[in-house]
Amino acid sequence: MDEDASVKGFNRAFRVLDSKVYREAVRASSQADPVPEWVVPFSFIRGSELQRIAAHLAVDEGAAVVDLGCGLGGTALWIAERTGAKVTGVDWASEAVESASEHAQRRGQADRVSFLVANMTETGLESGSFDGVTSVDAIMFADPDLVCAEMARLLRHGGKVALIAIEPEIPVRETAVTDYRPYFDRAGLEVGIHEPTPDWPENRERFFGALRERAARLREELGEAAEPLLDEAQTPPGVSARVFITATKR
Ligand SMILES: C[S@@+](CC[C@H](N)C(=O)[O-])C[C@H]1O[C@@H](n2cnc3c(N)ncnc32)[C@H](O)[C@@H]1O
Repeated sequence: MDEDASVKGFNRAFRVLDSKVYREAVRASSQADPVPEWVVPFSFIRGSELQRIAAHLAVDEGAAVVDLGCGLGGTALWIAERTGAKVTGVDWASEAVESASEHAQRRGQADRVSFLVANMTETGLESGSFDGVTSVDAIMFADPDLVCAEMARLLRHGGKVALIAIEPEIPVRETAVTDYRPYFDRAGLEVGIHEPTPDWPENRERFFGALRERAARLREELGEAAEPLLDEAQTPPGVSARVFITATKR
């Protein structure tokens, strides 16, 4: 799929996230380890994973963090509120960035959290200007060498990466990656942790199960827009790995 089509697909998907029934399915399937409701994830992020990311970034006030593939900006806002760092969210879907910016205003965080429409492999942000890089369930869409090179370019020496990468069985890009270590290493990022996230794939099954249980109400609420979501819930795409990764810029 070309870039334009992917971006359009994401913009369409973000409209569905406003659905009350969809949000209810997210809540129901993550109740053992929830993120705050205002985070509005478009991912499988759990509360304990946000905390783990913040712990490994180890940033505080005065630090700068970038969130690649930030979606509606909940992770960026959560990190800013938890740590005091300034956070820049990057996403190529303009509708996501628009909602994320409004969300930052509503939470009174617009002076600390900003959002930018850009490809995560070529953000245009200043080299060496970040203390931390994060990303949740998003780097699978980019060439792994290019995204690792961009993370390394953005970080100052000693800066940290803490992210979660999910890898579908049928890759959405040319290269299927289950082990990111060689890519990080080539880019000058020294990997600390590279391990599967716990309770996976059970978390994913819980989410798709919660959507299936709500199929009728989703159709009622969303009309035709529910169909791609329900198709996915009926036959969830295979996932070969979901990994938590930390690294330090050499
Ligand atoms: C599964 S969503 C995750 C969103 C967010 N991290 C979250 O946890 O809710 C993947 C996101 O990556 C973005 N994305 C995918 N490829 C991208 C690229 N090459 N550059 C920038 N954003 C990209 C999509 O628009 C989407 O918002």
